[in-house]
Amino acid sequence: MTSPRVPHPIRSALGAGNNASPTPEEEQFNALIEADSRIEPRDWMPDGYRKTLIRQISQHANSEIIGMQPESNWITRAPSLKRKAVLIAKVQDEAGHGLYLYSAAQTLGISREEMTDQLIAGKARYSSIFNYETPTWADMGSVGWLVDGAAICNQVPLCRASYGPYGRAMVRICKEESFHQRQGFEILLELMNGTPAQRAMAQESVNRWYWPALMMFGPPDDDSPNSAQSTAWKIKRFSNDELRQRFVNMLVPQAAVLGLTLPDPDLKWNDETGMYDLGEIDWTEFHEILAGRGPANGRRLQRRREAHEDGRWVRDAAAAYSRKQTQEMAVAS
Ligand SMILES: [Fe+2]
Ligand SMILES: [Fe+2]
Repeated sequence: MTSPRVPHPIRSALGAGNNASPTPEEEQFNALIEADSRIEPRDWMPDGYRKTLIRQISQHANSEIIGMQPESNWITRAPSLKRKAVLIAKVQDEAGHGLYLYSAAQTLGISREEMTDQLIAGKARYSSIFNYETPTWADMGSVGWLVDGAAICNQVPLCRASYGPYGRAMVRICKEESFHQRQGFEILLELMNGTPAQRAMAQESVNRWYWPALMMFGPPDDDSPNSAQSTAWKIKRFSNDELRQRFVNMLVPQAAVLGLTLPDPDLKWNDETGMYDLGEIDWTEFHEILAGRGPANGRRLQRRREAHEDGRWVRDAAAAYSRKQTQEMAVAS
């Protein structure tokens, strides 16, 4: 419907490692990054910076949209009207996050149609966490507490990302994510104050979601090849392991309030580091899911394709209306 706003043609950057002296445009870009200023769509930027952002922001947007599915699964079965209303609001927030982020990516010269096509063709990535199933109501608590909780730890530093439209989108998203985390915590708290069966359901769910949530921060630092460049460009502010550690430090006291056990026998306070030591993460499962062999990979994409087809009439109607408006304006002028 709307065509993407391409600020200016993508020009190739000399890039790091090239010995030629920087062009005035590169100097300007480097100075803005150095001064912790924002890069805006109208500014010149290196190819690699633009591509990294397009990849990261579109993956993030796809995750928000695919992430609606595991929770919308429970809207019709929520245990009370209050829970249903909260869950609907939460899932709707995720759709909004997807839209802010697709818009931010569009300012870099990729169209919404391209991003959608890549997603439904199975060529674009989204967060693997959404390829897990949500078989119990307690999973709505775990997803909010752990998945949205991990998202907040990851995303708060992105509010200061050097690319303006991304950072500004993240400010609003983070406010909503913090509501999501609290509603998840509250679902678990209510279950933990309930019957033995409800407590067991909460613990079983946390057992399934804890490790996948830790994997949301990405591979360990020594196995994260793109991180150094993203950090130099001030897109990324903290390493994967730092953020993972920060998340666990936040979870431990909250788990104590809930009366839940985090399923890591090696988790313990370390007086020397002033942080919790974590057990070894088994990355085999993560790589399986990344390779498309997770419990719900196929279904998530299939559902997304169906939703895209179901929405075709809306897009056609909006495009026809827009054409009619343009014709009427042309006749009037
Ligand atoms: Fe979100
Ligand atoms: Fe969320």
